[in-house]
Amino acid sequence: MIFYFSGTGNSAWVARQLASSLHEPLYEVVSALTDGAASLSIDAGTSVGFVFPVYSWGPPLPVLRLLASLRLSAAPSYLYFICTCGDDTGKTARVFSRAARRRGWQCKAGFSIILPNTYVCLPGFDVDGQELVRTKLAKAESRLSEVIAAVRARQEGFDCREGSLPWVKTYLIRPLFHRYLTSPRRFHVTEACVGCDQCARHCPFQNIRVEGRPRWGDRCTLCLSCYHHCPRKAIRYSVFTEGKGQYTFPRRSSPSLSSNG
Ligand SMILES: Cc1cc2nc3c(=O)[nH]c(=O)nc-3n(C[C@H](O)[C@H](O)[C@H](O)COP(=O)(O)O)c2cc1C
Repeated sequence: MIFYFSGTGNSAWVARQLASSLHEPLYEVVSALTDGAASLSIDAGTSVGFVFPVYSWGPPLPVLRLLASLRLSAAPSYLYFICTCGDDTGKTARVFSRAARRRGWQCKAGFSIILPNTYVCLPGFDVDGQELVRTKLAKAESRLSEVIAAVRARQEGFDCREGSLPWVKTYLIRPLFHRYLTSPRRFHVTEACVGCDQCARHCPFQNIRVEGRPRWGDRCTLCLSCYHHCPRKAIRYSVFTEGKGQYTFPRRSSPSLSSNG
């Protein structure tokens, strides 16, 4: 069985390809957290996979929350994760593995797949240019085949691109990110907003209410789905997203065929 979380579609693509290749059921992390599906009966030999984007060099908090609360009738025989990231994962594997260990489970494997970047909320961070989007999507297809083959063979070990200074990023910058840089109160819209509701429809947490203009509630993990899906480019996060681009995973079945970054 596979659990996935995705803001802008990269990880959803990975999760769907994985589920259809392995013929395994797919569960959304947010639904599993909210509708009680987090109690599941599994056989002794069942593999359990998590697919998610890297947020500030670690797993998104809802993923860690589900890992902490998931009730399974047996320990997973092969627990693994696949994370997608724009550049590098830092110590994501360590954070995930430690969270699993707190449940008495061993995370046997973890993989990263580089995909187009979606973080735009600080100076110096923007979506990738079209050429880089195309290159990343093309490379991701072969990387995903490799990763699926490894999961099918129940390969053990971690194959994540940690990048430079992974400890600093995960254990110093990440806590600051969660403390100071994820408040939904920084979202606002410009005059271009027509109240079309697309932001609310694409919010995985149903955290946006549109009454003329969108209002953000507190259940936000800064996935930026609202920002990237806005057809009028009207959503801003503080002053930091001024002039930044948008990206969502291309809808066609073969990602290398198109890009909109
Ligand atoms: C809040 C936030 C934090 C991010 N942090 C990282 C990061 O630490 N390292 C990285 O390489 N990419 C980072 N990214 C980029 C995403 O991990 C990457 O684009 C991912 O594939 C998006 O997946 P999704 O389309 O399934 O949401 C971040 C994106 C967001 C929105």
